[in-house]
Amino acid sequence: MLKHPQIILGIESSCDDSAVALYDMQRGLLGQCIYSQLQTHQPYGGVVPELASRDHLKKILPLIENILAEHQLTVKDLAAIAYTRGPGLIGSLMVGASIAESLGFALDIPVIGVHHLEAHLMATFLEYPQPTYPFLALLVSGGHTQLVQVKKFGNYEIIGQTLDDAAGEAFDKVAKLLGLSYPGGPQIAKLAQQGNPLRFNFPRPMLNQNNFNFSFSGLKTHVLLCYEKHEVDEQLKADIAAAFQEAVVDVLTEKSLKALKALKLKSLVVAGGVSANQQLRLALQTRIANAGYQIYFPKLEFATDNAAMVAITGFYRLAEAAQNYQIDVSARWPLGGSK
Ligand code: KG4
Ligand code: ZN
Repeated sequence: MLKHPQIILGIESSCDDSAVALYDMQRGLLGQCIYSQLQTHQPYGGVVPELASRDHLKKILPLIENILAEHQLTVKDLAAIAYTRGPGLIGSLMVGASIAESLGFALDIPVIGVHHLEAHLMATFLEYPQPTYPFLALLVSGGHTQLVQVKKFGNYEIIGQTLDDAAGEAFDKVAKLLGLSYPGGPQIAKLAQQGNPLRFNFPRPMLNQNNFNFSFSGLKTHVLLCYEKHEVDEQLKADIAAAFQEAVVDVLTEKSLKALKALKLKSLVVAGGVSANQQLRLALQTRIANAGYQIYFPKLEFATDNAAMVAITGFYRLAEAAQNYQIDVSARWPLGGSK
């Protein structure tokens, strides 16, 4: 019997993770493979764009071959290919787009260029129970911090965002200051376990302002001044990490709660790399879930950049898939904005 292809291949290459995933349109996610470029970038204390694109170029095709073989599939089983079209590092995006479009062209199947932040949002849909629309989304990644009103799939209204650093970026910068390696978020979270969050009372930027915007760059400066004022030892670093994390978590939690109330929404979807933070999860659970709201987090492996979220977004956007095979990316592409 002729089998109808029903698998979507997802490719993520927006920053420093080369990732691929297979999503079965009937059975859901089959699996994903990630190659983290951490070792390439760690000596430089941050992502080096040129090195990132070269790594993607070396890794993505072997990752695709591996994941297909792992599931006893071949490219002939693919019904469509989804890749991250933006926002992200232009060279890295180009690698994912070129591979997706050329493979799609060779196989004569549709290709879908997906939005990275929409994909982060859809990561929570890989899990059951899935969120129900409408909901408020707190998108917290290395490049973005946004509160978004989501009325239905694809309908996004950004109601607040950071005016300067993103939450993840602030974690990364404070980590660097404390001599921790990149990416800083998980390192700060780990060090904070040994720290006393009450030793320093860092500011909660914009918490009492009547809007849903954020600002983290002043907090970062405050941390720097505090660090310079004290004798540096391991305890100081841990206390700073704990107090900094507490300040960020407080702002994210309180602003989300305010927005839920103001927009009369009942559920919150948290997405992006910072949503992996356990203190943030705990604070949202205790202050928001306990206030009667539904709260949805991605599974930890789908919180930071991955291709499973790209593949499922491709599934939801399949109707818009094109077969014109143009290698087309967008380094800056606002959520909900035109391509
Ligand atoms: O979504 P993501 O993987 O990539 C972007 O789209 O930017 O997010 C990466 C960001 C980095 O800034 C990283 O430090 C932060 O997420 N991050 C964390 C944690 N895990 C990753 N921040 C705080 N706590 C964590 N556990
Ligand atoms: Zn991301």
